[in-house]
Amino acid sequence: MKLLTGKPGWTVQADVIVIGSGVAGLTTALNLRASKLSVLLVTKAKIDEGSTKWAQGGIAAALGPGDTPDQHKKDTLTAGAGLCDIAAVDVLVTEGPEAVRKLIAQGAVFDKSETGEIALTREGGHLRNRILHAGGDATGAEVSRALLAAVNDDEGIEVIENALAIDVLQSAAGAVCGVTLHVINAGSRDGVGRALAKAVVIATGGLGQVYSQTTNPPVSTGDGVALALRAGAEVADVEFIQFHPTVLWRESASGGQQPLISEAVRGEGALLLNDKGERFMKEKHPLAELAPRDIVAKEIFIQMKESNSPHVWLDATTVPDFEKRFPTIYASCLENGIDPKSQAIPVAPASHYASGGVRVDLNGQTTVPGLYACGETACTGAHGANRLASNSLLEGLVFGARIAAHIAAHPAPQLEPEDAPAHFLLNPAIQLPLQLAMSQGAGVMRSAASLKETLGILEQLATRTSTEPCIEAWEATNLYLLAIAIIRGAAERKESRGSHWRSDFPEPSLDWQRRIIQRIDSDGVWHMRYEEVK
Ligand code: FAD
Ligand code: SIN
Repeated sequence: MKLLTGKPGWTVQADVIVIGSGVAGLTTALNLRASKLSVLLVTKAKIDEGSTKWAQGGIAAALGPGDTPDQHKKDTLTAGAGLCDIAAVDVLVTEGPEAVRKLIAQGAVFDKSETGEIALTREGGHLRNRILHAGGDATGAEVSRALLAAVNDDEGIEVIENALAIDVLQSAAGAVCGVTLHVINAGSRDGVGRALAKAVVIATGGLGQVYSQTTNPPVSTGDGVALALRAGAEVADVEFIQFHPTVLWRESASGGQQPLISEAVRGEGALLLNDKGERFMKEKHPLAELAPRDIVAKEIFIQMKESNSPHVWLDATTVPDFEKRFPTIYASCLENGIDPKSQAIPVAPASHYASGGVRVDLNGQTTVPGLYACGETACTGAHGANRLASNSLLEGLVFGARIAAHIAAHPAPQLEPEDAPAHFLLNPAIQLPLQLAMSQGAGVMRSAASLKETLGILEQLATRTSTEPCIEAWEATNLYLLAIAIIRGAAERKESRGSHWRSDFPEPSLDWQRRIIQRIDSDGVWHMRYEEVK
């Protein structure tokens, strides 16, 4: 089952296609070049669009004096609430420091302390300072800048911007051998075309736009997870949507991307206060404001309900030199009429990160031959039920390198694509009601009843089909598919764990110490299985 498109009008070919130009896609592309493979990097908007450039807090890696990968591992496992894949965590924390050193060698500049050492801060769930940051709170912009400069310098990487990957092309046996693309303003390659390759790496980032309020940019419509599902690949842990606890609450805000107030602000001493001006995290967790993200988001949600208020407060007035340490956040607060040096900041949770995604092994291979996934799109299992702060940029760096090495070590022939069996498309007008329904019934807190009601709304929306392929329709159809997968996973998981909070099953259960894996077969039938996690 594929999305409805126009007839392909052109063809292009490379050894490997990388879809997406965030930390995961750029790292994979650069590492592939070490083996001299030709790379076609396609990205659906401008090359620097995506979550990477918005990343604030930093990158976690055991680089500080006295820190070790083992301590990083412990914190990652605690945050992951019993559902981390230990082998994936081991890879992340042990290969992480070298990956960060390589990024520095590629030109990324991180903030230094007064003594000239790399400055390390703290975020939720970390028992020690281990977060490298750049430009104060503009870490992602610096990572993106450094990687893009390296990509621009490499003639073996062809970049096509405004190139939306719609679906993968598959051989008669189901192996992936390219993608269908829609390109705007690229001369002879305008409109729908086919890009052929021996391997395809999906690095399309997150799916925050499934919800009405998110920290994610507009491109984060989860296209990669949706196209992997349509290709028959397994996805895992999709019910674990991480809601960032401290997103700037704005009275007049409409939906879409909202400004983030980094956890690092709490790392530098900011406190959470309820409507009565009282701290509420102290008695809830030994790390108080720096408890893992799911725990803080949940307590904020409870405080908001109890006081019938749309937000709580983040008091950052004691943070030294706020405007220098957090220039981006300072500017966005001022833009919204708040001076964080003298006023508490109104904050509320919003969708932030997909801890699950396309199920991959330690080399980024999906369950479909020739198809790899990297970064937020992928589920390596390293995040379990809740990602530890600042482990995401790190995951893109570490697994991007592993995927490139695996592709180089396993040369594959160029296969012939087969025509896809059936096509469908939904009306772009479903996007807004879908986002509202998901926030209402499948958000921070869910229950069997709220999920059932949301599913009913989605099923109604699915009757609004379209015969006019366009970017908005492809994205809306992808959001629909993801919303269904999230609801199916959330309804199945009858417990509360990590960022999955069921009001009707408020405790974690040993019976659910397992991963929920979903896939869609070639007849469009959904399947679910479990994977035990030790
Ligand atoms: P992205 O950076 O999102 O890149 C995805 C790319 O795919 C984009 O280029 C996009 O245009 C492209 N794309 C999408 N769909 C298609 C398609 N159909 N066809 C072609 N191209 C497509 N993590 C941390 O570790 N530390 C932090 O401090 C941190 N702060 C964050 C702050 C914010 C506001 C946000 C939103 C996230 C933050 N995260 C942080 C999470 C982290 O930034 C992301 O998880 C990470 O950058 C994802 O990288 P990626 O390469 O997988 O995806
Ligand atoms: C933040 O800066 O709070 C975001 C960090 C992350 O998502 O890892």
